[in-house]
Amino acid sequence: MFSLEGRTALLTGGAGGLGRAMAAAFAEQGASVAVSDLRPGASTEIAGELAERYPAQAFAGVSMDVTDEASVTAGVAEATKAVGSPDIAVLAAGIGELQPIATMSFQQWRHMLAVHLDGTFLGIRHTVNPMIERGWGRVICFSSVASLQGVARQAHYAAGKGGVDALVRSFSREVAADGVTVNAIAPGYIESPLNELAPPGRIEALTESVPAGRFGYPSEIGALAAYLASDEAAYLTGQIISPNGGFKYCHHLGD
Ligand SMILES: NC(=O)c1ccc[n+]([C@@H]2O[C@H](COP(=O)([O-])OP(=O)(O)OC[C@H]3O[C@@H](n4cnc5c(N)ncnc54)[C@H](O)[C@@H]3O)[C@@H](O)[C@H]2O)c1
Repeated sequence: MFSLEGRTALLTGGAGGLGRAMAAAFAEQGASVAVSDLRPGASTEIAGELAERYPAQAFAGVSMDVTDEASVTAGVAEATKAVGSPDIAVLAAGIGELQPIATMSFQQWRHMLAVHLDGTFLGIRHTVNPMIERGWGRVICFSSVASLQGVARQAHYAAGKGGVDALVRSFSREVAADGVTVNAIAPGYIESPLNELAPPGRIEALTESVPAGRFGYPSEIGALAAYLASDEAAYLTGQIISPNGGFKYCHHLGD
């Protein structure tokens, strides 16, 4: 079960903590993978490591800024040339920031929405048509518990993720009859560089708020993404799935 042999995946934000784990999980299941990121050196390094480990599959590192349509167009074209047209699009590019609305600049607001909401739209828009033509496709977006539960000082981040949730629910219905599924993973707190900028004490407070008693592992997100990308998940669409160790946002986090 869950084989991805013969499939091609394109990841945005692929050099991040979760992107790297998902690229590894897809490769393990037999897929060819294009790892795209704003940081091309890191994505090329990841692709190189996977190519060494899985010589029968194709891998490429691609430079892509998901807030810029020309960059997304060029990145998808480069990925397609290197590894083939994506059957699976994973839209995981993201940034984090703690900022109260009372002191947030319009530029901060716009950039957060650009990375998460525009970036998800552009990633979908530039990969989905060949999936529809082939009658098979998987779109995996990234939401967050910030959207599902609300987090103070992350209203811009949560708003972007809430937009992703609504996009997933509606768009999934447009392509459900074309063999294309569209879902979002809405993680709780997962060990990744995204959380490394947290102020002192926050990680400890967050960990105490997770009934499972720990942050999630990136490999756990990789396994879920591999399942969502598989043939076996064909009937699962329009869903926001939250691996979060039972986390429920608490006030005592200092927010
Ligand atoms: N790690 C968590 O705890 C967590 C929780 C909830 C949601 N998420 C979401 O999961 C996704 C992946 O998160 P992560 O933990 O891997 O974060 P990360 O910071 O490790 O990786 C994010 C990647 O996105 C890239 N990126 C940033 N801006 C970009 C842009 N404009 N164009 C292209 N790439 C860009 C970064 O270079 C980085 O490699 C994000 O959407 C994040 O919001 C993560």
